[in-house]
Amino acid sequence: MVTKEQVLEALRDVEDPEVHRSIVELDMVKRVEIRGDRVEVEVLLTVTGCPLRTTIERNVRERLLALEGVREVDVAIGTMTDEERAQFAAKLRGGREPQTLPPILKPDSGVTFLAIASGKGGVGKSTVTANLARALARAGLRVGLIDADIYGFSIPSIFGVPERKPTVINDLILPIEVSGVKLISMHFFVPENNPVVWRGPMLGKMLRNFFGEVHWGEIDVMLLDLPPGTGDIALDVHQLLPKSKELIVTTPQENAAEVAVRAGVMGLRTNHEIIGVVENLSYFACPCCNERSYLFGRGGGRRVAEALRTDLLAEIPVADLSDGRRAIFGDDTPQGAAYQALAERVIDRLGLRAATLSH
Ligand SMILES: Nc1ncnc2c1ncn2[C@@H]1O[C@H](COP(=O)(O)OP(=O)(O)O)[C@@H](O)[C@H]1O
Ligand SMILES: [Mg+2]
Repeated sequence: MVTKEQVLEALRDVEDPEVHRSIVELDMVKRVEIRGDRVEVEVLLTVTGCPLRTTIERNVRERLLALEGVREVDVAIGTMTDEERAQFAAKLRGGREPQTLPPILKPDSGVTFLAIASGKGGVGKSTVTANLARALARAGLRVGLIDADIYGFSIPSIFGVPERKPTVINDLILPIEVSGVKLISMHFFVPENNPVVWRGPMLGKMLRNFFGEVHWGEIDVMLLDLPPGTGDIALDVHQLLPKSKELIVTTPQENAAEVAVRAGVMGLRTNHEIIGVVENLSYFACPCCNERSYLFGRGGGRRVAEALRTDLLAEIPVADLSDGRRAIFGDDTPQGAAYQALAERVIDRLGLRAATLSH
């Protein structure tokens, strides 16, 4: 006959699919009963109707049936009481009080921050952020993305998940996962079509919550989609993340380049290293003959890079986004290929090669 210890040992590598931690470690296995070759377990979930219920159920069953001496398995799924849920949230926080510095902001967190900035809106900053995040995840990094454009949030729509809602366990928020990227945005917290009317201090607090109240788990690199320009929130990010690096997005146009330099200079003044410039909407390549048309002029990206004493890391071609095509570009598109190359360069500039290889 198996013992309770063997059962728990077997269940140790069943993870909660949302928080990526062992259900045993998180005390989610409430009851284990062994009757001859029949094992009954009860697993507690945080909320009823949790969509991950069947995944957990299946994994538990598989592990237990693989044990010698077990022929029948009965998995009951229960729901945590308020008290159990509070303990669960506390466990995820690692016993930390909500007021203390979030682990992700501690200097030894091992997380590399990269803020994506532009001088003005509409140059494709969010599109670049989303596609770079996806490409970094595909290259093997564990990627987080904070949509820090608190008024102009757009990342969930770009990823095509505007209707998803993050799971909230008491006051702990789980990020949405899409294309291998863990993502949080103001979008998830405002009712539809409600303009955000909060003032500066409130917004600053929101941003802090994105670091402190969100359970990020293990992350190698955290991208931040900054609001355009050099406003309060950008300053706040600079202050919160003294070690953050920065990537500047511009288009080839003169006016966009000019203000992009200004945004970059602000980053430099606050001692944020600029790892490079991305020029978006660089050219249109004819699908028939591949001839390039420079619809928005030429040279903006290069000029920004020179002015900020850094390099132009990518030139992203114009895509056909008619007929509701999404701006997450597949690997087989010219844009997708450009983002893969950009991700490689970003990994080098951030010194993340070793992290990519380690998992
Ligand atoms: N390479 C591209 N080709 C075609 N359209 C693009 C490209 N990059 C961005 N866009 C489109 O341009 C618009 C602005 O992009 P967005 O990423 O929202 O800019 P920002 O965040 O700088 O305001 C969006 O409609 C987006 O789909
Ligand atoms: Mg944007």
